[in-house]
Amino acid sequence: MAEGRIGVLVSGRGSNLQALIDAVRAGGFPGRIVGVISNKKGAYALERAQAADIPAVVIAHRKFAEREGFERALIEQLRAWDVEWVVLAGFMRVLTSEFVRAFPQRIINIHPSLLPAFPGVGVQQAALDYGVKFSGCTVHLVDEGTDTGPIIMQAVVEVRDDDDAETLAARILVEEHRIFPAAVRRVMSKPWRLEGRRIVFEDAP
Ligand code: GRF
Repeated sequence: MAEGRIGVLVSGRGSNLQALIDAVRAGGFPGRIVGVISNKKGAYALERAQAADIPAVVIAHRKFAEREGFERALIEQLRAWDVEWVVLAGFMRVLTSEFVRAFPQRIINIHPSLLPAFPGVGVQQAALDYGVKFSGCTVHLVDEGTDTGPIIMQAVVEVRDDDDAETLAARILVEEHRIFPAAVRRVMSKPWRLEGRRIVFEDAP
């Protein structure tokens, strides 16, 4: 495990991956992306990685009879890249405890709701159905639950009366692209500790 080396897991469009690529490229970032893994062939995120000269591979979960085999292949690739951090950027598979324990407190995820409200999938529609007036996004450390890990950063988005899942998702995505690289940068560069499930940054006023 070498300091500052980031492996990114993706499943699709990769706009959050792009935000991270851009932030690293802008300079002064405390790490660099050394590889991207997609569990889906043809994911646009792979093209984004290639365009940025980042090694990109497909490890298709469908090719494995069991989740454990899939995850072992992910771990093997990430270890071959010698990553310190694993960043989930729109990675649509749930990871088991075995994977989480392979990179303790070193896995970061972006989720399009204000956790702990609306974990899982279909969250913009769930927020609309519930009738919340605000939603948003959360960047958090991954623990052994689904979308339950310690929160690094959140951003709030107002829900409009005429929103549908698509318009709400689009406005949340703008905030995702802002806080995702910022949260990765923060957690990678600053000393912090966990107090219960709270992340306490030691440089905070
Ligand atoms: C984002 O909304 C992210 O929060 C969620 O999946 C979506 C991925 O979008 N986990 P992209 O692939 O980063 O464009």
